[in-house]
Amino acid sequence: MTKKLILDLDAGIDDAMALAYALASPEVELIGITTVFGNVPCAQSMTNCRALLELLGAPDVPVVAGADRALAATEPYTTMVDVHGANGLGGVKLPAPRTAAEGVLDACATAAVSFLLDAARRYGENLIYVPTGPLTNLARALALDAQAVARIGAITFMGGALTVPGNVTPGAEANIANDPEAADAVVRSSVPVTMVGLDVTHQTILPAAEIERWRALGTPAGEAFAAIVGYYSQFYLTHQGHLGGCALHDPLAVAAAIDTTLIGTLGINLKVDVAGPFRGRTVGDAARLRDVCKTAQVALTVDAPRFVARFCERLTCALA
Ligand code: BDR
Ligand code: CA
Repeated sequence: MTKKLILDLDAGIDDAMALAYALASPEVELIGITTVFGNVPCAQSMTNCRALLELLGAPDVPVVAGADRALAATEPYTTMVDVHGANGLGGVKLPAPRTAAEGVLDACATAAVSFLLDAARRYGENLIYVPTGPLTNLARALALDAQAVARIGAITFMGGALTVPGNVTPGAEANIANDPEAADAVVRSSVPVTMVGLDVTHQTILPAAEIERWRALGTPAGEAFAAIVGYYSQFYLTHQGHLGGCALHDPLAVAAAIDTTLIGTLGINLKVDVAGPFRGRTVGDAARLRDVCKTAQVALTVDAPRFVARFCERLTCALA
């Protein structure tokens, strides 16, 4: 049976690639996107998601308003992150979306939480949920109805770093750093999660030639993605040249959620540091180290050649 998929995006550039990958994956049906602040403010994430869905020929997929700030924040998040350019899509202007996202932005992420909980109650085991931004919407859903969240078949998030340094501070990865309290609430809950962090995403790099292949497709989507991802790739070459290209963070989380054989995981009970110099670090929780039940599976190995080949194949289909 085709599984139902919900993505939770802070729609920057690798989120856009994750969306294209999901749409080209026959194993799943994308039933909606919930949005969150992170790479961009949440309102921009909503606009980007709508514009991308229309560009990719999937205008009927709903986009829902999510958290506009971290759990502990008193003001909406307004930062634009350099890595993803002026509008979160490398400054590339897509045609204005014809339809608006659903729901009203608020601190409690009311619309996104209702959308996720309704889907959890309706589809249970057959639902896959992949957050690729801060975990604020998921933390809010857990606080409201943990039993419904526990019914979700698989929750696989992009974020964190267990065996490698962070990318925002030496300890913290960006998605976790943007809302450490939310991530801590998620990994301390009894709900099983899979973490796809920098341990594996820094092993999956987009071959530069692929961007030219997209451009050569000559389609609106191919040309737009070549420009958008070209910006991201250049940023990586300038600031993290040792990687040899841009990391496929968010697409790997989607791919691993759909096909768990792409990654190898360690079962562990996690916590997130919320204070001190390591704020935002994902680390084993010493207090629960001996618990027989491990609530997190952390990806530590990845079949990078198989994933990258599949990514390239599916993106070409999505952009053709
Ligand atoms: C993560 O942070 C965001 O900038 C990316 O979209 C990705 O989800 C990588 O650390
Ligand atoms: Ca992201």
